Amino acid sequence: MIIAVDGPAASGKGTLASGLARHYGLPYLDTGLLYRAVGLAAAGAAEGPAHEAAAIAAARALDASHLSDIEALTSAEAGVQASKVAVIGPVRAALFDYQRAFATQKGGAVLDGRDIGTRIAPDADVKLFIQADSKARMERRARQLENRGVVVDRYALYHQIEERDARDMLNPHGGFYKADDAHLLDTTLLDIEAALRAAIAIVDGTMARKAGPA
Ligand code: C5P
Repeated sequence: MIIAVDGPAASGKGTLASGLARHYGLPYLDTGLLYRAVGLAAAGAAEGPAHEAAAIAAARALDASHLSDIEALTSAEAGVQASKVAVIGPVRAALFDYQRAFATQKGGAVLDGRDIGTRIAPDADVKLFIQADSKARMERRARQLENRGVVVDRYALYHQIEERDARDMLNPHGGFYKADDAHLLDTTLLDIEAALRAAIAIVDGTMARKAGPA
């Protein structure tokens, strides 16, 4: 079974996707980490062609060893850098095969990102599109960072999330919209457990419908 989980920054899709992976015993890939690793690798290059070239080279050279520094990769700055390299077509092309191979491995997988249900695994068995309002998303991300001892400027964080949403929504190479056959799950008013229960109900219901009458 392939489960595709998409949604905007800090919507809770990572927590839900990893919870689904644990529940169904499936391997899990957070595809945002790939873009974050490439974004950080290219961050030192001057804006413009040098940045683009550095990002393409980093995407082509990416392997699992670049995904281990979770603290750096999950920083707010890495998120902003990720959204800058995510608009570069050859970067997306370079990361496609890795994601597609993960999605189509034997036994299935859970992937979360922005274009999993639309581009990486349009054939997924179940697609979820997670949303939550911007303020709730900012507050969740702020608490995550504070739990790590990071001092958070909520005003700046809110604007960072909005900036990232805007860049993602205008991304000419993305597929950052809800796939027609994706189930919408709004987590604004749900805690993690309630959101996971709702997601599991959607997956079980979809798979039961696909299996047909018992
Ligand atoms: O999901 P996360 O917030 O970690 O993603 C960081 C950034 O990477 C996103 O804002 C988006 O620009 C990019 N991304 C993408 N396609 C994906 C996953 C992430 O373009 N499948």
